[in-house]
Amino acid sequence: MVFETRLRTVAQPSLDDPAIAEAAALLQAGATVAFPTETVYGLGADCTKADAVARIYTAKNRPHDNPVIVHVAEREQIDAFCEAYDERVALLAEAFWPGPLTLILKAKPYLHDTVCRGLDTVGIRVPAHPVAFALLKKSGLGLAAPSANISGKPSPTKAKHVWNDLQGRIPLILDGGPCRVGIESTVLDLSQPRAAVLRPGWITGRQLDEVLGAPVTREGDVAAAHRSPGTRYRHYSPDAPLYVLQPQVGDDAFVELQALILQQPAARLGYIGMRREVVTDQATALFYGCEEIDRFIHDLYMNLRQMDEEGVTHIIVDGCGEEGHGRSLMDRLRRAATVVLVSDRDTHAFCLKLSTEWAIGNSNT
Ligand code: TXA
Ligand code: MG
Repeated sequence: MVFETRLRTVAQPSLDDPAIAEAAALLQAGATVAFPTETVYGLGADCTKADAVARIYTAKNRPHDNPVIVHVAEREQIDAFCEAYDERVALLAEAFWPGPLTLILKAKPYLHDTVCRGLDTVGIRVPAHPVAFALLKKSGLGLAAPSANISGKPSPTKAKHVWNDLQGRIPLILDGGPCRVGIESTVLDLSQPRAAVLRPGWITGRQLDEVLGAPVTREGDVAAAHRSPGTRYRHYSPDAPLYVLQPQVGDDAFVELQALILQQPAARLGYIGMRREVVTDQATALFYGCEEIDRFIHDLYMNLRQMDEEGVTHIIVDGCGEEGHGRSLMDRLRRAATVVLVSDRDTHAFCLKLSTEWAIGNSNT
């Protein structure tokens, strides 16, 4: 189905706002609506209606076995979607909701085939954004909402990113300005006795440990899988190949890779990181120091999208340490990367491989 997508700004979110009223009516009728949250923009639909949820999958081109999380206005509403009371939920909700934490809980059976995609658990969160809150309140619904991008692309942190991906595929986008956090929520599995992080995010493992009074299992680390070809799983990816350099990679190795890329005909290099001294003026460069990691995270998806728009052909990004928010940044970079280079030797070997491939490619054309 082709839609004439409308983009409406919500300046002063309230239950009386006409854009909120229009969006709520669409959702009640089973349509999809994109809306801002504090993390990224979501594409919402009534989580209790199978045909409404199916429209999300069609619009995003989302793999059918990937479950979507449910958003509610207030934590008291989760009983409608989850089985059995768990005292950890009360502790975490008190500390982090509304906010960027998704809890995986045993789902009510009527959700198994819609949002859970065959699992018996459901992800649920209370977002901290006035537009999301007004929409959830006005519609009175639980909203199934994955990030509002075409599957595989970087998540949208501005309404225009949603427009670029989903224009013609959904009826309405609510513009509530840029998202405050810029990466997706932390996903914490509470369906097992020991809580486990399935996706690192803004709320860190240490914060969760403190509130629960016991260490949570840290997962969501895809480094090993990523480096074995065949199991590589790209996500959050720009169109241009993305080379991620771990902090151990020195400036000489960086310069070697940079020079190799710029030898390619019509190459346009994009760079995000800290190497102000050695980045050539030819590159579109964005500099972030180690101390600016939150801004790096906030801007990451926006910058990757921007580089694609500008016709950048290769992107190099400096990784960071895994402490605090660094863990979620590295998780996203690893998933988005064409390759992660961990050392000078690794970078040198990769340059040799690239130059051989490119020499063969160029002689064929
Ligand atoms: O910040 C966010 O979480 C954003 C905003 C819109 O709320 N949403 C978001 O949704 O990032 P999505 O679908 O792009 O990512 C949700 C992640 C997916 O990796 C999905 O596989 C996982 O949560 N997930 C959802 N339900 C699950 C379940 N029952 N068990 C395990 N993982 C689940
Ligand atoms: Mg997503």
